[in-house]
Amino acid sequence: MVERETWATRVGFLVAAIGSAVGLGNLWQFPFKTAENGGAAFVAFYLIAVVLIGFPAMLAEFVVGRRTNVNAVDAFRELGHRNWRLVGGLAVATGFWILSYYNVVGGWVLRYILGSATGAYFDDPGAYFGAVSAGPEAILAQALFLGIAVAIVALGIENGIEKATKVMVPSIVVIMVVLAGWAATLGGAGEGYAYFLSPSLDAMVENAGTAIPFAVGQAFFTLSLGMAIMITYSSYVGEDDNLPFDGGVIVVTNTLVGILAGLVVFPILFANNVDLALTGGGGASALFVAVAAGFAELPLGRWLGVVFFVVVLIAALSSAISLMEVTVSWAVDNFDVSRPTLAVAVGLGLFVLGLPSAWDTAWLTWFDNLAYSLFLPVSVLAVVVFVGWVIGSDAVDELRRGTGGLGPFGPLWLWTLRLVVVVGVFATLLLGIFELFLQDDPTGIPPLVAGAIFP
Ligand code: PHE
Repeated sequence: MVERETWATRVGFLVAAIGSAVGLGNLWQFPFKTAENGGAAFVAFYLIAVVLIGFPAMLAEFVVGRRTNVNAVDAFRELGHRNWRLVGGLAVATGFWILSYYNVVGGWVLRYILGSATGAYFDDPGAYFGAVSAGPEAILAQALFLGIAVAIVALGIENGIEKATKVMVPSIVVIMVVLAGWAATLGGAGEGYAYFLSPSLDAMVENAGTAIPFAVGQAFFTLSLGMAIMITYSSYVGEDDNLPFDGGVIVVTNTLVGILAGLVVFPILFANNVDLALTGGGGASALFVAVAAGFAELPLGRWLGVVFFVVVLIAALSSAISLMEVTVSWAVDNFDVSRPTLAVAVGLGLFVLGLPSAWDTAWLTWFDNLAYSLFLPVSVLAVVVFVGWVIGSDAVDELRRGTGGLGPFGPLWLWTLRLVVVVGVFATLLLGIFELFLQDDPTGIPPLVAGAIFP
């Protein structure tokens, strides 16, 4: 058997994981949900959700991956619990499912880079979005995006994902900082910042019914949990990395990029008096319709549009490759076939599963809602219960490796996992099921948790 790959450097793992976490969720969910739900007050709440739920859950995935150094399905068998392979299987399947339509969205971004360069959407971004988001052209764009992701994953961990993300992640941060600096000079900057961040406890309380489940759901979506990504990436950690430290860096960077995104988009919207209803409160329309409308009005709007959508592309691509690696890693571990061949095969499977979503956004919404409200929380919950209650203190030992001692943080982590995370995720799951199946409830209670693409 060929020796299993590892990251070439410690930073390689860190950067790849940040690339996975920083994605569309940071760019089109976080800023708009923050603005809607009480600005800085919501950010504070979101941070609590990340610290109490997202971060401990991420460490749980790290422990499973690094302990076993094998793909997310077989990791559970390696840990001595064969039947829990089902949980790994669920996480891998959830990831495959999500990636099938994430690729379609990646295709839209490619179209918007082109559309910015030619000014094609400047007259009517809404109509342009409608035209490019579904049908044969969307299928073609999906195939193109998928092709790029397959090419990177085919090259492997060290030569593909690590090399690519080492360029991609710093580029995202640098370009976003430059864009934020430029946006600060726009006429509407002050108003934009106020709309984004001015704290409003009233808005927070008023929207608590939707804001709280959103904050919790976002805490694990934005950290790429529940899709076996962090299990897979940490399974290539060869040396004794300090996992809590790495996790902390990932969480902080991920949050900062979300805030940076807000500092870029709101000045653009306010400088050009874009109708805020076009944002749809976050999600695809926020970028493809509302922010796009802002570029149409700006001097040099074409260039700015290209630069902006290139950042969106890099963010989406570095997330897509992490998710593709989940299935490819499982295939590489289980079949005696070369990685490039397996990457192409996985790519073809994803392409076919993505066809309905590329054909009609109604399908994409269906796929997304099911994943976001059901598969993801079930999968996060299962992994957390496994690590917290089945593995228990052995998990703390694994977490301790490479840290030089955890002190009280070890048991604190375990009990947070066992109680806070389990309860928080379970509650989110119930709300999600409620939303999925009782949407037309005659009581008229509004949906509580929606998808990631069209929230
Ligand atoms: N963390 C990603 C985001 O915020 C979520 C994701 C990862 C989605 C990988 C798809 C693939 O967008």
